[in-house]
Amino acid sequence: MTVFHNAPAPVADPIFGVVERFKNDTNPKKVNLVTGVYSDNTGAVPLMKSVKQAGEIIAQNANAHTYQAITGNSAYNSAVQKLILGDDFVAANSDRLITVQALGGTGALKLGADLLKRLATKPTKILISNPSWENHQAIFEKAGFEVGTYSYYSPALKGIDFDAMLADLKAASEGTIIILHACCHNPTGYDLSNDQWQQVIEVIKTNNLMPYLDMAYQGFDKGLAKDGAIIRRFAEEGLSFLVASSFSKSMGLYGQRVGALSLVCQDGDETKRVKSLTSNVIRTNYSNPPIHGAALAELVLTNPDLNKLWQDELAEMRDRIKDMRQQLVQGLNDRQVHGVDHIARQTGMFSYSGFSAEVMTRLQQDFAIYGLESGRMCVAALNSNNITYICDAIATTVKG
Ligand code: LMR
Repeated sequence: MTVFHNAPAPVADPIFGVVERFKNDTNPKKVNLVTGVYSDNTGAVPLMKSVKQAGEIIAQNANAHTYQAITGNSAYNSAVQKLILGDDFVAANSDRLITVQALGGTGALKLGADLLKRLATKPTKILISNPSWENHQAIFEKAGFEVGTYSYYSPALKGIDFDAMLADLKAASEGTIIILHACCHNPTGYDLSNDQWQQVIEVIKTNNLMPYLDMAYQGFDKGLAKDGAIIRRFAEEGLSFLVASSFSKSMGLYGQRVGALSLVCQDGDETKRVKSLTSNVIRTNYSNPPIHGAALAELVLTNPDLNKLWQDELAEMRDRIKDMRQQLVQGLNDRQVHGVDHIARQTGMFSYSGFSAEVMTRLQQDFAIYGLESGRMCVAALNSNNITYICDAIATTVKG
């Protein structure tokens, strides 16, 4: 027997494991509301025109596939930095900023986690929201941190229990790393108000906590600039923090793994040392990141025509999702399923529907409608062809 024999029993991933079951389902009416993937009204995951055109430009100017820098595509990194921190802040603080290309938002989160682990001088706790994205806890635990939660969603309130959240943050000891969803909270779709964010910032300052912002859905709530405003607020408040960002959703570059880790440090000397350590974390994990996806994103971000086209396409996606939320609520109300208005108030790709694990399981078993047991459904996959079937199925299941 070898060491392989010690492998534990297979465990399905809480999100992609359900996708596998969906793929194997032979029901022709099956619907995938599992992952945060946008489909258009025909049910297809679109290749965005802006991204397609960027690909054509790249194909016409084909280069050899040599190594990129360890920190990735510098033009891409600089465009990402401006997108999330704003041109003015970047211009005035460039010696305090680091942005490195990462393997999607997940890769950015892990890179930041490994970096923080290397920097920690004492056992440090990470707090994630309760609930949070399925993978947060696992990523930070595997990076060697003890992971706890702060209060966030209250089923009774069908919204955020902000008093409880603030109390938990106030109770966190100095140096605790706080994972915050910058917008379009996954899975609940409930974001803090401006005033609530300000109170969170005050606690972070008072308790000397380390914020780590997860920005996977910029552009899906109010638009790129407005959704990014919270990150700029953290920066303008003089805080040091990390941001994991991604173009999986906003450019439909899921499989290209195009993300970034950005860090705001206190001064130029600190920035140089942190950047060197970040490079070392990358080098000792995967050496240097892949070329193609970041080159696509670089062009979409920096070519004015492509950028305009991208922003228009993103607005169309955002508006379509909002419209489908309304149609879902209306469709359910028409079938005498009430108490679902919150679905239209949530933001981003998901609805935390409030349906029980039993309802979600029956939707899978009886109708081949796949969501998560937590009640999370990807409303970005609803369309005019499947909405009637879904509303009928939910009404039958909830009432049955
Ligand atoms: C999701 O939450 O469905 C997406 O972010 C995909 C993933 O990686 O889990």
